[in-house]
Amino acid sequence: MPRRERLNVVGVEPVGPYALLRLVRNGIDPGAPGQFFMLEAPGRVLPRALSLCLAPPSELHFLIDPIGPGTQALAELERGEAIHVYGPLGNGFDLTVERPLLVGGGIGMAPLPYLAEALRFPPTILGFRSELHAEAAVLMPGAEVVIDPVLVTDVLPEGFDILACGPEPMLRALPSGQLAWEAPMACGYGACYGCAVEIDGELKRLCVEGPVLSAAA
Ligand SMILES: Cc1cc2nc3c(=O)[nH]c(=O)nc-3n(C[C@H](O)[C@H](O)[C@H](O)COP(=O)(O)OP(=O)(O)OC[C@H]3O[C@@H](n4cnc5c(N)ncnc54)[C@H](O)[C@@H]3O)c2cc1C
Ligand code: FES
Repeated sequence: MPRRERLNVVGVEPVGPYALLRLVRNGIDPGAPGQFFMLEAPGRVLPRALSLCLAPPSELHFLIDPIGPGTQALAELERGEAIHVYGPLGNGFDLTVERPLLVGGGIGMAPLPYLAEALRFPPTILGFRSELHAEAAVLMPGAEVVIDPVLVTDVLPEGFDILACGPEPMLRALPSGQLAWEAPMACGYGACYGCAVEIDGELKRLCVEGPVLSAAA
């Protein structure tokens, strides 16, 4: 059941060009891997959607790519500050797969550490645009890492159940699997239709029907 709570910041740690925001969990259900939370961004009217990255016993961790004012404000939080968090929201990954293979592109790797834990660390491929971005792979020990111009699709083995999160061109280039999509989200719970996207000819509100959707072969 999603809850809205004001959570204290434990700290923010740099991970390559990204920031790992650690919040006190305060009893909030971390949800299933692939679900997301809406985080109040200091100084912004609308909250920002972030996937849960890791859920150690008393904390919630989020990996942030500071690409704009909201994510920058979240990445600049300091220990002792507090923000409102609402979640867990949306549909996560179906974990009942026989031969999981995790695939992440850039900041799309954010939900994969929590997913890897739940699936007992299956094979993983991560793609990044630079050596600096690839430093985030430290959160996924054992992952195969490729850097542009090599793409995750260049090294994809056959015969696995793919669970993926990453930029849209990467998701569209993958064969069948469970794919976590992204769209700008204002509410996060189905009310504003701001996140409606057309996938396979159908309009989907990603915050309620996704963000994880199954793609047919
Ligand atoms: C379900 C979900 C999970 C997410 N998980 C993470 C995460 O774990 N870590 C993380 O860093 N980011 C994540 N995001 C993306 C993050 O929510 C957006 O990047 C954020 O809202 C940008 O806010 P901003 O104010 O920093 O930048 P803005 O100024 O709002 O946006 C900067 C630029 O990015 C575009 N943009 C904004 N949001 C999105 C989006 N969702 N998809 C595509 N383009 C967008 C804008 O049009 C603009 O061009 C997630 C998004 C969704 C929907
Ligand atoms: S974000 Fe409002 S309907 Fe999805």
